[in-house]
Amino acid sequence: MRLKSIVAAIAAGLLTAAAVHADQGDAEEGRVLAFTCLGCHGIPFHTNVYPTYFVPRIKGQTAGYIEAALHAYRDGSRRHATMRAHANTLSDEDIRNIAAYFARYGEDPS
Ligand code: HEC
Repeated sequence: MRLKSIVAAIAAGLLTAAAVHADQGDAEEGRVLAFTCLGCHGIPFHTNVYPTYFVPRIKGQTAGYIEAALHAYRDGSRRHATMRAHANTLSDEDIRNIAAYFARYGEDPS
């Protein structure tokens, strides 16, 4: 009985993971890809360390917003040298996964 419910829970988890992957990007993949992003976007008071400048907060933002911003940096319609350099290295799937990660986790991604 107990084992059955554990197996059912694992199966449900796998199905959920597969569904998330298909539609919205994989937040776990995104977590790995977002490691460098957090150097700027994960800092309290929303500033970079040095030189000090404002960095927008993106944790908890909607996935659609984050995806749109990254596409805009990548195609050059939104201009910012640093963000363009970052977005240039990302595939469409990377962008989906990163967006899923930031959208899903609020202030504390751990
Ligand atoms: C060196 C610091 C730095 C790093 C690293 C960095 N960003 Fe940014 N990011 C910025 C700054 C500064 C802006 C604001 C740019 C502007 O004015 O358009 C920004 C803007 C953004 C925006 C738009 C936010 C908004 O409110 O419109 C998104 C989304 C974003 N970054 C995602 C990422 C992702 C994903 C990564 C990692 C792949 C990343 N950033 C890495 C500094 C950084």
